[in-house]
Amino acid sequence: MPRINRIGVLTSGGDSSGMNAAIRAVVRTAIFHNVEIFGICRGYEGLIDGQFEQMYSHSVSNIIQRGGTILKTARSQRFMEREGRDIAYSNLKQFEIDGLIAIGGNGTFTGAGIFDEENDFPIIGLPGTIDNDLYGTDATIGYDTAINTVVEACDKIRDTANSHERLFFIEVMGRDAGFIALRSGMAVGAEFILVPETTTYIDNLTRLLKHDWRRNKTSGLVIVAEGDDFGGAYAVAKKVKEKLPEMDTRVTVLGHIQRGGAPSAYDRVLASTLGYEAVNALLEGQRGVMAGIINNKIAFTPFEKAIKHHKDINLQMLEMSRILAL
Ligand code: F6P
Repeated sequence: MPRINRIGVLTSGGDSSGMNAAIRAVVRTAIFHNVEIFGICRGYEGLIDGQFEQMYSHSVSNIIQRGGTILKTARSQRFMEREGRDIAYSNLKQFEIDGLIAIGGNGTFTGAGIFDEENDFPIIGLPGTIDNDLYGTDATIGYDTAINTVVEACDKIRDTANSHERLFFIEVMGRDAGFIALRSGMAVGAEFILVPETTTYIDNLTRLLKHDWRRNKTSGLVIVAEGDDFGGAYAVAKKVKEKLPEMDTRVTVLGHIQRGGAPSAYDRVLASTLGYEAVNALLEGQRGVMAGIINNKIAFTPFEKAIKHHKDINLQMLEMSRILAL
């Protein structure tokens, strides 16, 4: 196995809190091993544009507590084309970079897998996404922080909902997965949680909401994942209002506040551990895998499996949260 002397690190796709902690861990672990480390700006876009900059220990000082990503990020259309990937490869060769650490989600690992296949180039992935929709890790970097943000927002909404005796529909992120909705919904005692993994039956929802109100509920929170099959919080609220015009309803879309902010302690530790383990794995010859933590143990999962093998949400938790909100 040829020795790795120089590696690159990039963040790609939607940012998530804890990406900076991961970059810090990657940079310092590489330096510990006397391996040169280059930061690549704006994800795969920077790979194509040759935006490479050598990083040192001080480059990552005071970032463990910061949200966002100091390397910037992008969803690169050009990297989806062979032409873009070929330019990226020639830039890596020019800079004599022997391996990459890619921090991101589904799209990032799809691109990484294709790139390795075409160019025989070692890449290790770190799961950086608030969605928690990757197989091969119990939690992704940024998921815990996003949930805490949602919980804080929902608690505030609960105060005003209670005062006005209103029913709120709160939309949270999650295009394809209901992890954020489910966990935060449970934490705030939501009356209902609507996720993409299950079908939303409006008649059923309105019947139960009416029943709740009859039993003297003075506020209601319905957490709606943006990818819910009904089409998000506004669509659900509209339908419910048609059927229950007497209810005072409001909609709040939490949006991108879920992606920013200082990472939680959990995310900092997760990101630091995975960054450290990913560099060690790359130097030991691993490639084409995502580093994750399963049952408190480090685990490496091939990109293909991490993306395609569906991680199921806990449907029992959905049922439990409804019972506990009765
Ligand atoms: O993949 C992470 C995510 O935050 C999704 O939950 C959300 O649907 C999407 O990114 C939003 O992407 P953008 O910031 O490009 O609008």
